[in-house]
Amino acid sequence: MKVALLHPGDMGVTVGETLKESGHSVRWFSRDRSPGTRARAESAGFSDCETPAELFHGLDAVVSVCPPGAALEQARWVRDSGYSGPYLDANAVSPATARAISLVAGPLFVDGGIIGPPARQSGTTRLYLSGPAAEETAAWFVAGSLQAIAVGGDPGSASALKMCYAAYTKGLSALLLSVRALAEAEAVTPALLEEWSLSQAGLDQRSEITARVTAGKAWRFIDEMLEIAETFESCGLPGDFHRAAADVYQRMAPLKTVADPTLDDVLQYLLNGTR
Ligand SMILES: NC(=O)c1ccc[n+]([C@@H]2O[C@H](COP(=O)([O-])OP(=O)(O)OC[C@H]3O[C@@H](n4cnc5c(N)ncnc54)[C@H](OP(=O)(O)O)[C@@H]3O)[C@@H](O)[C@H]2O)c1
Repeated sequence: MKVALLHPGDMGVTVGETLKESGHSVRWFSRDRSPGTRARAESAGFSDCETPAELFHGLDAVVSVCPPGAALEQARWVRDSGYSGPYLDANAVSPATARAISLVAGPLFVDGGIIGPPARQSGTTRLYLSGPAAEETAAWFVAGSLQAIAVGGDPGSASALKMCYAAYTKGLSALLLSVRALAEAEAVTPALLEEWSLSQAGLDQRSEITARVTAGKAWRFIDEMLEIAETFESCGLPGDFHRAAADVYQRMAPLKTVADPTLDDVLQYLLNGTR
């Protein structure tokens, strides 16, 4: 198949590599994209399309892997370009947003949710798929590092699974970093770390790692936390925990451009809005 990948970000490039290894040709649309995305696409050998006409000519499928807050707009742009074939949205969006995207993308929409880090080796990362064409779509990914799994159900089930998973992992990260900031503000960090060493082994090291791993991506987690909050609320459950997590990541968002951020950097941004 000829597949358009929108776009080759950290995760997207590994989705495209899996498609290539599975025998498909992968193209992308370079207008408005950063040098980082261009470099990833070039080193992966994806065909660069500079116009929508070039991108959609003879196209068999679109795979959307972009910031969650841009997913619906991305689908509208594809529809407005006249394409109406298979459309896989693999973004971290709520089931309600997935259904809104499905209305835009049309009957060949497939809902996806990715769990795990960018798929650079097999066994680390899974693409869950749902909707009527989920099994068929899983067969696009027969080789390569990303494992595709059809979970059945309606469009929205794969996104619901992703929301549940990230609600715990990214919610917990926001909580842990907030606790470290609170301890710092109240000048009880040494006492807290001492107590953790007695009763919560590993939390000290875990907060250091969490800070390093989340700092550069916090800007992208804001919309994901809001999608999760809406998912909870749509089921009659409290969404404010993840609205607060969105606030935590909002404070950390400027760390996107800070090289090698540390826990100290994160605490400074959480408490003072700067370093
Ligand atoms: N990274 C992970 O570990 C991970 C894990 C599970 C799921 N995911 C999901 O995968 C999706 C993408 O993640 P990623 O890690 O690839 O993110 P990323 O590295 O930030 O890449 C996002 C890509 O989308 C492009 N983009 C930025 N703003 C856009 C917009 N307004 N409209 C369309 N495209 C835009 C970026 O281009 P520029 O370079 O021009 O900004 C970049 O190519 C998200 O939905 C995320 O939740 C990621």
